[in-house]
Amino acid sequence: MRIDCSRSVERRASFGLRLRRATQSLLPVTDGGPSMKWLSPILLVSATFASANHELDNRNLVSGQTLYTNNCASCHGAKLEGQPNWRSSNTDGVLPAPPHDATGHTWHHDNGLLFEYTKLGGKGALAARGIANFNSGMPAFDGVISDEDIWDILAFIRSTWPKRQQQFQKSVNPPH
Ligand code: HEC
Repeated sequence: MRIDCSRSVERRASFGLRLRRATQSLLPVTDGGPSMKWLSPILLVSATFASANHELDNRNLVSGQTLYTNNCASCHGAKLEGQPNWRSSNTDGVLPAPPHDATGHTWHHDNGLLFEYTKLGGKGALAARGIANFNSGMPAFDGVISDEDIWDILAFIRSTWPKRQQQFQKSVNPPH
């Protein structure tokens, strides 16, 4: 079982992908480029998601980076590179820590899941979503790092992604 298979996340993610593919197919790949009349309905749909990332906006990225180094880098890597062979479970059935950079799947998830995964840990976050007894290597930081500090860390992580991943992550957030 993989944490990125949570149904609702997957549904939203695949919607985002479809949206992106639809957008990409209209982007100027040919000499002439598309006319704006084709793009405008797509941009309208995107606009409904454009303001959905507010917890991560205007954060203290310097503090987020320091907190990341002190609390997360031991597993997720000093350069957010994750642990080797992170897609395969260890012999004890626990997954290694995934990268938080663009090669991982952190950017596939909405703000709520990233926050809960950090605060409640993997086991707690999945239990809260009805998936019991998941043997997670991700510890809970509830009582260790404040909510505001968790958002700073997540905002720092987001700040390292290229624009494309940032836009995608924004699109999987339900409007709120
Ligand atoms: C003891 C090792 C360890 C530490 C320390 C740790 N993690 Fe994790 N983390 C994991 C593992 C292992 C997973 C893989 C999923 C699982 O097993 O639940 C994970 C998964 C995650 C996920 C969900 C997967 C993803 O990429 O979206 C997030 C978010 C996350 N960690 C954030 C953090 C943050 C933020 C910190 C620091 C505050 C942190 N982790 C510290 C081991 C760790």
